[in-house]
Amino acid sequence: MTGFDATRRSAERELMDDDAVDFETFRGCLVDLARVNRLSLGYRPTLGFLERLRRTRQWPRDRAVKIMDVGCGYGDTLREIARWAKARDLRVELIGVDRNPWAARAAAAATPDKMPIAWRTADVFDVSPDADVVISALFTHHLGDEDVVRFVRWMEAGAALGWFVNDLRRSRVAYDGFKVLSGALRMHRFVRHDGPVSFARSFRADDWRRYTQLAGLAAGAAEVQSWTPFRLCVARLRER
Ligand SMILES: C[S@@+](CC[C@H](N)C(=O)[O-])C[C@H]1O[C@@H](n2cnc3c(N)ncnc32)[C@H](O)[C@@H]1O
Repeated sequence: MTGFDATRRSAERELMDDDAVDFETFRGCLVDLARVNRLSLGYRPTLGFLERLRRTRQWPRDRAVKIMDVGCGYGDTLREIARWAKARDLRVELIGVDRNPWAARAAAAATPDKMPIAWRTADVFDVSPDADVVISALFTHHLGDEDVVRFVRWMEAGAALGWFVNDLRRSRVAYDGFKVLSGALRMHRFVRHDGPVSFARSFRADDWRRYTQLAGLAAGAAEVQSWTPFRLCVARLRER
């Protein structure tokens, strides 16, 4: 199915999910995705979640807090988190996981030496979920419905303090608007193609309520949050 349908998630493939893509093309796509993240204030929801977690008693003060970013791509979110932690004198251990080997290579090259972040190449479901906090950004819409539920279970099993999903809201306005904007800003051709497809593959709040329920979470255990512009996020803070 191609195009946009408000009533269901699209199954159209994204160009960046093709394993045959070469390094320069993949890296170019990630660089422009990072531009999109910055221009659309995409780090704000994730940093807001960490800030909220930091203010709770759960945040350990006597050791580094392990934060894993799944589908980390260019690693720009983890670099933002490294700056956020440094500004607050917090010790963090940062790990980026991405199934495409070009992601680790591009992310490592874009990361200053004094910013120690470990980059791993693996499919998320081949990694054991062992972290204090699991985050992801623009990742879950790459998965089919069953794998989104599996991913929620995976995070639930391994994220000791909580987890946060930062993704998109399925919206026709965003689908149409992104085509115009990404063309005007002369974004990478993959971003111009995959951006609208991503909005069509993305979620409504009800989808997330269903996924979290299917994953065995109690009603209200995870909070679905709408962020402007067109982000739909899911926050799970663990009770201790
Ligand atoms: C749209 S990019 C998002 C990159 C970055 N998080 C951002 O916000 O710009 C999605 C990333 O998820 C990765 N990915 C897709 N499926 C994956 C899987 N099963 N396990 C790990 N990474 C995956 C892709 O390789 C890609 O780098």
